[in-house]
Amino acid sequence: MKLLTVIGARPQFIKAAPFSKCFRENNTEILVHTGQHYDSNMSDIFFEELHIPRPDYNLNVGSGSHGKQTGKMLEGIEAIIIKEKPDGVLVYGDTNSTLAGALASSKLHIPVFHIEAGLRSYNKLMPEEQNRVLTDHISDLLLCPTNTAIENLRKEGITKGVYYTGDIMYDAVLNNIQIAEEKYNRISINGDIVYNLNTQFDFNKENYYLATIHRAENTDDKEKITKIFKALNRLDKPVFLPLHPRTRHIIENLEISTDNIVITNPVGYLTMLYLITHSVMVITDSGGLQKEAYFCKKPCTTLRDQTEWVETLEGNWNVLSEITPDEIIKKSQREFDMMTPQTSTFGDGRAAEKICSIIEQFNN
Ligand code: UD1
Ligand code: UDP
Repeated sequence: MKLLTVIGARPQFIKAAPFSKCFRENNTEILVHTGQHYDSNMSDIFFEELHIPRPDYNLNVGSGSHGKQTGKMLEGIEAIIIKEKPDGVLVYGDTNSTLAGALASSKLHIPVFHIEAGLRSYNKLMPEEQNRVLTDHISDLLLCPTNTAIENLRKEGITKGVYYTGDIMYDAVLNNIQIAEEKYNRISINGDIVYNLNTQFDFNKENYYLATIHRAENTDDKEKITKIFKALNRLDKPVFLPLHPRTRHIIENLEISTDNIVITNPVGYLTMLYLITHSVMVITDSGGLQKEAYFCKKPCTTLRDQTEWVETLEGNWNVLSEITPDEIIKKSQREFDMMTPQTSTFGDGRAAEKICSIIEQFNN
């Protein structure tokens, strides 16, 4: 089978790693990178660390308004589909690269396969919600990470081509967690980056918060982003914040204090796994990081009004927080003994295998 896969943003590289490895054992995959993310610490580092095959095409669309970015992607992906004539097109998640890949393919009557189908926050103002709803409605295979996702699709009348696969990000965590631990222990002994960080964070004592912030609903509202930084700055332990370039550009023009916050450039996936497992807890507006905190049995405060990953809320592992300094501090400094054992399942860490076999069967 010849599959064309469209990726372009950081979380998609991480999800592509386990799938590409499995699928290429018996099939051909043409990898298209839209170029939505392009800094080396937002793109190249993931290909290197996770041994993701080099993209066959890079559209280099770069940053821009939604219309401009998605439009350029559509044009580029359409031309590649016409040239390559794949049996199907695979897209991941909910970014502009996801929607462009699905739309280009659907208009050319090539089957669309969507990994992470059925997720809903029910906040239609979020670009991610628009992308995922539209993508699901033109997909031929809807590969769902959770049973809630299947139920969400059913409510919208989508039942054909829907499969439970488990979460491919869980595969990624299981495949890499030990590598991350060994790599960073070794590096810390050799005096590299983590050793330097060790002067501020004792990784063995879990005495820092790990935070990420990049969602438009927080960064594009000056009041909200200022309140988030106020909260992080007043927490009872230091905060490690690998900062997304979107947020970095925005805070450059704001007056905020960061005495309690160590801000770094975005880090690679292995560093991130190390930072999660050694933190006291995670504070984030990321979709993926909420789940990784759950997989690594770390509490999480999510800086949003809704989450599409509702399973993580059970047992108080993840709590949503209003964007006020007091609320963020209260939620993040909550008593962790209130948490109950995890019951939700994100699969068995073999989502990639299941997805490969569903796609192969579809093609037969
Ligand atoms: C995108 C996704 C979001 C996802 C996130 C993952 C959409 C609509 N949003 O948001 O769902 O959670 O990726 O990280 O697709 N920039 C750089 N260098 C880069 C990439 C971005 O400097 O390599 C800066 C640019 O100023 C750009 C801004 O970040 O304008 C936003 O990038 P963009 O890809 O448009 O959206 P994200 O916020 O990354
Ligand atoms: N991540 C990373 N380095 C960072 C920040 C995040 O490797 O500096 C990883 C994180 O562990 C998760 C993924 O990126 O696997 C989540 O992507 P992001 O938060 O950018 O997007 P979202 O999941 O919100 O769409």
